[in-house]
Amino acid sequence: MNIIKLNAIASTNDFLKELSAKQIVQNLTTVVAENQLNGKGQRGTTWNSEDGKNLTFSVFLNGNTINTTSLYLINIIVPISIQEVLKRYNFNTIAIKWPNDILSGNKKIGGILIENAIKSDGTVQTIIGVGLNVNQFYFENLPQAASLAMIMNREFDKEILLKNILDQLMINLNRIGDASYFWEKYNDLLFKKDIPMVFSNALNEKFMGIIKGVSENGKLLLLLEDDAIKEYDIKEIKM
Ligand code: BTN
Repeated sequence: MNIIKLNAIASTNDFLKELSAKQIVQNLTTVVAENQLNGKGQRGTTWNSEDGKNLTFSVFLNGNTINTTSLYLINIIVPISIQEVLKRYNFNTIAIKWPNDILSGNKKIGGILIENAIKSDGTVQTIIGVGLNVNQFYFENLPQAASLAMIMNREFDKEILLKNILDQLMINLNRIGDASYFWEKYNDLLFKKDIPMVFSNALNEKFMGIIKGVSENGKLLLLLEDDAIKEYDIKEIKM
């Protein structure tokens, strides 16, 4: 596997996007940065990570790995792969908050930003961006954030951790056809499944619902107070 290590870059996702616009990028090329100056999060947010402390990396998938029908599967395979690795490090309470935040208990330890581009030949090019809080101990103004080191009270070797995650991701990408296996696992790991909680809609109005699962195109299935089950996409709801 081709791994590009950088000291500092605006965003590893953007780096791969720009590189692939200029040249052919080998499938599974990975870019890892010690420091991101303009890391991107979901819903247009920024992803901040203390210089040198955490893992911030992106993996490039060319059109051969996934097709438009398995597009959403990648969103579940990535957090599952990370959970599988963290379990080997004795993290036993990892959950996935829809769509793909990685939680330990109720603290966010990692986030994933997947960017797809459908090419003129119909193939899908995907950039998987992962930010995993590893050895950072303080998160200013982010009470819901934590790192592996904070949870286990010891530091982790980032290089070994990255290798383990990439190896696990490759194993899982090779069995991407086994969709039901991943869906079952994802639903088991889904944060707050079957527990009534408050959500807010795009207008910031609050309502009660119970997560029942995620549809195969990635929408959150909520049981509402009138007993109806409704699907929400990421722009329509916040939890
Ligand atoms: C989230 O909002 O939870 C997603 C965060 C994703 C952050 C990672 S860090 C590596 C890659 N490059 C980016 O600019 N973002 C992703």
